Amino acid sequence: VDLFDAIQGRRSIRRYRPDPVPRDDLLRVVEAGLWAPSGQNLQPVRAWILTDRDEIDTLSADLRAYGLKLKRMMWLLKVLVPRFRGGKGERVFRSFRERLFHDAPALILVGADRNASSTYLRDCTLAAMNMQLAAHALGLGSCYVGWISLLDRCPAVKRRLGIEPAVEIVDALTVGQPLATPNAPPRPDPAERTRWLP
Ligand SMILES: Cc1cc2nc3c(=O)[nH]c(=O)nc-3n(C[C@H](O)[C@H](O)[C@H](O)COP(=O)(O)O)c2cc1C
Repeated sequence: VDLFDAIQGRRSIRRYRPDPVPRDDLLRVVEAGLWAPSGQNLQPVRAWILTDRDEIDTLSADLRAYGLKLKRMMWLLKVLVPRFRGGKGERVFRSFRERLFHDAPALILVGADRNASSTYLRDCTLAAMNMQLAAHALGLGSCYVGWISLLDRCPAVKRRLGIEPAVEIVDALTVGQPLATPNAPPRPDPAERTRWLP
């Protein structure tokens, strides 16, 4: 695969075939993530993979229950957090679907021990990007699911998954055979988004 084609051809896939993803493919995806750069080369990134549909559904339901609580508190958030005012709060919930993980047959959680590196957030997200491209290169679809950030507010759920309290799960990727690939949302002209500094 040409890298530029892969970068432009990767889509966020939200409809999947139920077929399981071979473990070797999932490990190759994780491996691509581990080849991402990391601050001071500390390599703090780790992955947790769920392939049990019931587990994935339960995680989705647990996070959704917490998110719905937040949504009901939106009026309070608007009072307390200026950036939630004027429709912004509602927009946050735009991707808050019935099934946060799109009924995918696999879910990769990307995280790190908070104490392992001062750049663990960036390290994790760079790894997740590599993983999305690797999944695409293997003919798999993936979707970044930002709602995983709610997991840290649900310590009981984290415990159930066997994730240590010191670990923060930073990114989540649904993975599976795509059932439908959407058209690419257009991107801005790079020249318009670029300023050449003297
Ligand atoms: C930080 C972040 C959070 C995202 N969260 C979600 C999400 O919770 N649910 C979802 O379906 N897509 C989510 N996405 C995927 C975006 O909606 C998607 O990347 C965007 O619409 C562009 O489409 P493309 O990836 O096909 O180019 C997220 C993407 C990013 C970068």
